[in-house]
Amino acid sequence: MDSYDVLVIGGGPAGYVAAIRAAQLGFKTACVDAFERNGKASLGGTCLNVGCIPSKALLDSSEKFEMIAREAGEHGIQVDGATVDLGKMLGRKESVVDKLTGGVAYLFKKNKVTSIHGLGRLVRQDGDAWIVDAAGQEVRAKNVIVATGSSPRALPGVPFGGNIVDNSGALAFEQVPAQLGVIGAGVIGVELGSVWRRLGAQVTILEALPGFLLASDEAVSKEALKQLQKQGLDFHFGIKITEVQQGESGVTVTYEEKGQPVTTRFDKLIVSIGRVPHTAGLGAQEVGLQLDERGFVKVDDHFRTNLPGIYAIGDVIGGPMLAHKAEEEGVAVAELLAGQAGHVNYAVVPWVIYTSPEIAWAGLTEKQAKEQGHKVKTGQFPFSANGRALGHGDPRGFVKVVADADTDKILGVHMVGPNVSELIGETVALMEFGASAEDLGRTVHAHPTLSEVVKEAALATDKRALHM
Ligand code: FAD
Ligand code: NAI
Repeated sequence: MDSYDVLVIGGGPAGYVAAIRAAQLGFKTACVDAFERNGKASLGGTCLNVGCIPSKALLDSSEKFEMIAREAGEHGIQVDGATVDLGKMLGRKESVVDKLTGGVAYLFKKNKVTSIHGLGRLVRQDGDAWIVDAAGQEVRAKNVIVATGSSPRALPGVPFGGNIVDNSGALAFEQVPAQLGVIGAGVIGVELGSVWRRLGAQVTILEALPGFLLASDEAVSKEALKQLQKQGLDFHFGIKITEVQQGESGVTVTYEEKGQPVTTRFDKLIVSIGRVPHTAGLGAQEVGLQLDERGFVKVDDHFRTNLPGIYAIGDVIGGPMLAHKAEEEGVAVAELLAGQAGHVNYAVVPWVIYTSPEIAWAGLTEKQAKEQGHKVKTGQFPFSANGRALGHGDPRGFVKVVADADTDKILGVHMVGPNVSELIGETVALMEFGASAEDLGRTVHAHPTLSEVVKEAALATDKRALHM
């Protein structure tokens, strides 16, 4: 029987990073992963195969199309008759995925991580180790890291299939649907809704909650909603889905809006109402691995489960379902196993939504900061007063800095605007080091860059922005 110091179950961002870090630290490591794409093993989990990477590839392609077909004229570039070759666009997305999933296989080889394709199932404890069925073969592992991720949540009684799709289906429509319905105005809803709208779909988004992105800073969610509505995304808030009927050529959805029943037909329906922890086939119940009431694997602050030698990380333990959070947990758990001080600072995990304009934030919203008892000051600076944004032709949005009025410490940064997915990184690093708004405001930022908006927003917390 093969024997390992560390066996990772799941090869997504949590699992593959944990395996690489464990191998770097000298552990004999294997990773068993079941994911298949086009009938073949494909490492990288949800993120690389049917999540972060393919969605961003399509967001980029569709944004280029929108730019060329509808916005190039503003720059004095005349392009007539730009059309979309959807097959080619989807093919490009697949080749990006191939490159990256193949890259994980290469990294496993380079770091001497044994890669096993198939299901991993906890079987029994054996002295100070665990026996795991890895793709039909029993292996022995001193430490097991469960990183089995999450799956899309279906509407009760409405299984995915046909024209009712989850994230995987929504990344692979063979034709642009004329009428696209989206249930859930969350991250997937607005990202993939944006992709298909840019390519020509009429997109209707049905959301149960009364408002948009309620977890983000109010100023940002308000501005983002305004911009997305302007593009033609048709949002309906506070609705209640009462019936979904699959037909041969489409889906009929009945919902209540302001107390009135409404029935609408769509060619395709994306259901993006959140994700649930994935533990099917893991053998959790059989070995007594504790899950919480929502099905997440229960862990302590060192990623230890209730069973000695079994750890869990990533989407399957809850918290923000984000690839970078999962990766950091992968590093932390491997370092803890090596006796080091592995740690994830959950207070500054950035969120980025790759719509146009992009949305990004980290740390506390103004409301949260006040609720936590801080005396708060804020500074906001618009991209419309920034030379680079005007040059780009995209001066929408702003950066808002939330700081403690007594200590000047930056508590949160909230952005909506061009390239804010990249701008948020600087502020995360500063918050990690406990920086003040003055530190940020006095840091030299290259001119002309979008990053000057971040600096100016920091200066604005003391009412001394220079260019407004
Ligand atoms: P997963 O990536 O789900 O990986 C788990 C792996 O374990 C899978 O390969 C699965 O097949 C395998 N597995 C499960 N059970 C077993 C078993 N018993 N045996 C063997 N293998 C098993 N996050 C971001 O940060 N940025 C983004 O831009 C972003 N975009 C997204 C877009 C979409 C459409 C979706 C759906 C998600 C997106 N996410 C994004 C979220 C991100 O994909 C997840 O947070 C991340 O993949 C979680 O990593 P994980 O390793 O915990 O789980
Ligand atoms: P989500 O949690 O972001 O949004 C789900 C939305 O559906 C919520 O607004 C919720 O109120 C609504 N909803 C729930 N039940 C409903 C119902 N019955 N009827 C109508 N609306 C309903 O979940 P989503 O979009 O499915 O994405 C899952 C997760 O994947 C995200 O939370 C995020 O963690 C991750 N993700 C991250 C991305 C990024 O970082 N850019 C991109 C895409 C996904």
